[in-house]
This record gives sequence, C-alpha cells and structure tokens, in this order.
Amino acid sequence: MTPLFDSDSSPPSREELDEGAALLRGFASAKAPVLVEEVGRITQSAAFRHLVTPGGYTMSVAMTNCGRVGWVSDRNGYRYDPIDPDTGAPWPAMPVPFLDLAVRAAADAGFANYDPDACLINRYVGGAKLSLHQDRDEKDAWAPIVSVSLGLPAVFLWGGKRRSDPVRRLIVESGDVVVWGGPARFVYHGVAPLKDGQHPLTGTTRINLTFRKVF
Ligand code: SIN
Ligand code: FE2
Repeated sequence: MTPLFDSDSSPPSREELDEGAALLRGFASAKAPVLVEEVGRITQSAAFRHLVTPGGYTMSVAMTNCGRVGWVSDRNGYRYDPIDPDTGAPWPAMPVPFLDLAVRAAADAGFANYDPDACLINRYVGGAKLSLHQDRDEKDAWAPIVSVSLGLPAVFLWGGKRRSDPVRRLIVESGDVVVWGGPARFVYHGVAPLKDGQHPLTGTTRINLTFRKVF
C-alpha cells in the first residue's frame, strides 16, 4: 500500500471555527518548502524588522511584506504603504505560489474569487507573541484573512467579536491555514508566546503569512 501522505503530516481536514471561519489542517503542507523558499527571497530585498506600535512598544514578532501594499506601524499609527519605509522601494511582488495557495484556501473555506493585495509575513522566535487584536486596517470588511502557518507549531488564540469574549486555544502546525471573513471578519485573534523548538523547514522560528484584501 502506498501512503498518500508522509509520516509526519496528516491528511488535510477542515474544521469550522465559526460562521465564516475555518481551520484547514495541512492545506499548505505540500507547498510549505516552496513558500519558505519564497520568504527567503523576499527578505533579501525587504528584511524582517521589529516594528514599533503607536504606543512606543517594540513588537516581539519580526515582520515584512510582499504585494502591492505592506502593513507598517510606527509612532504615528498603523497603515498600509506601497513603499517599504526601510528601503524607500516598493515591496517585493507577491510570488505566484503565495497567491495560488491563498486563493485556493479562501475558496475551500467558502470565499470564491479571493483577490488579496497584501501579504504580511511574520517571524516568531521562542517567546515572541501577538496580543489579541482585530485586523481592521483594511477597507474590504468582507474578504477573508488567510493565515498560513510554517515551521514551529504555535497556539493560535481564537476569540469572538468582543475583546472580552472567551478565547479558544488552537494548535496550529506547519501547513495549517486559518481563514476568516464575512461574518467572522472582525473576530479577535492572536498568538500565544512561542515555545522554543527546532523545525526542519524554519529552524528555531515560526513563519506566518497573512493575506489581506486591503482595497
Ligand atoms: C496575525 O494575526 O496577523 C498573524 C497571526 C499568526 O501569526 O498566526
Ligand atoms: Fe491579525
């Protein structure tokens, strides 16, 4: 008998989190090496950096972007910018395998014709975290966020529409994709402090791609 999937990855499965939100386990597993390779290429021209929040806090997650615009933060606020403030040049283009994966994942979760214009790339090392927040800097309030996990596993925090709502702790592993849009678009979410570890694809880090339809 020929196994369909290798020993350390399970068959893809879809778990409904809420109306408009799904966890697609293993959806990106086959493409994970290619996606990580593309991240390496992107960061040669737009390096990972630790952004400062308007409140003056330096984020523990390192970030960069690709696509028509990139998400940036500084003392003046959050915004989408067509120019990387670190280089003065446009962000690297969104690689075809990124776009392809995002469109297929969105469709699998019920969002046809997804057309993201930005991909925020997050890099977590041990201890790095992302506090509970809503993604609300995008003009399109219906198109989904597509979030792809690569490398070390993490605890993804999945809350509700109010900050005070109960929070579920979901283990996300390399190749898992979370999609939330429509009625779930403004759900609070975050990432618990990353546990130290070693992953064959990404070493001591977790990489996350979040696709957004900004305009
Ligand atoms: C985000 O909320 O932008 C990123 C979430 C993650 O790293 O899984
Ligand atoms: Fe987010």
